[in-house]
Amino acid sequence: MGIQITPSILNADFSRLGEEVGRIGSADWVHVDVMDNHFVPNLTFGPTMVEALARSTDLPLDAHLMIENPDSHAPAYVEAGCASVTFHVEAARAPVRLAREIRAAGGRASMGLRPATPIEPYADLLPELDMVLLMTVEPGFGGQTFLDLVLPKIRRTRALLERHGVETWLQVDGGVSLETIERCAEAGADVFVAGSAVYSAEDPDEMVGRLRAAAEA
Ligand code: DX5
Ligand code: ZN
Repeated sequence: MGIQITPSILNADFSRLGEEVGRIGSADWVHVDVMDNHFVPNLTFGPTMVEALARSTDLPLDAHLMIENPDSHAPAYVEAGCASVTFHVEAARAPVRLAREIRAAGGRASMGLRPATPIEPYADLLPELDMVLLMTVEPGFGGQTFLDLVLPKIRRTRALLERHGVETWLQVDGGVSLETIERCAEAGADVFVAGSAVYSAEDPDEMVGRLRAAAEA
């Protein structure tokens, strides 16, 4: 599939999200951060807002659920129009069942890991997943500093994916910018979330192109 750029709308203007997604036409996905004030100390939106957003753009939605009890709530985001749904392994009670339910509902199933969560205990789950999301900041807020300490885990995850011979994508999320994206790509990531880097740029779509070029370099 190659390099994919998925701008996060967390730092966009929430009062006009439809227009804001219109400013990133060359992106591959729109990354939608769902937060519940429990799994993370911040609150964003739920399936009704996501459904409205899905209707306002032709880009596929990449939902990132930073919520407790994703087992109960994740399939609703496929129904709301998300082509990919990430649940956090730290919150999921039955990640295999959940991944299968997301796929059965017609979505791409993705599992997220906080910076301190190791990938190795979940190696056997990789064939069940369409994507692994490695957080490169503690989840909850945009605009945080990229954590270099996650780079070895990106490398180890890429090696595990190769060992299993699966097509699972490897996404990084948090502090991804022109400064840090090359390090992530070199370590083996292929899907890049960027929030503040894109939406603080004067021309967000131009920044999408610059990030893509830097990751492909
Ligand atoms: C943080 C979210 C990220 C956030 C990234 O918890 O999961 O998707 O929007 O924002 P930046 O790119 O500014 O770190
Ligand atoms: Zn995110």
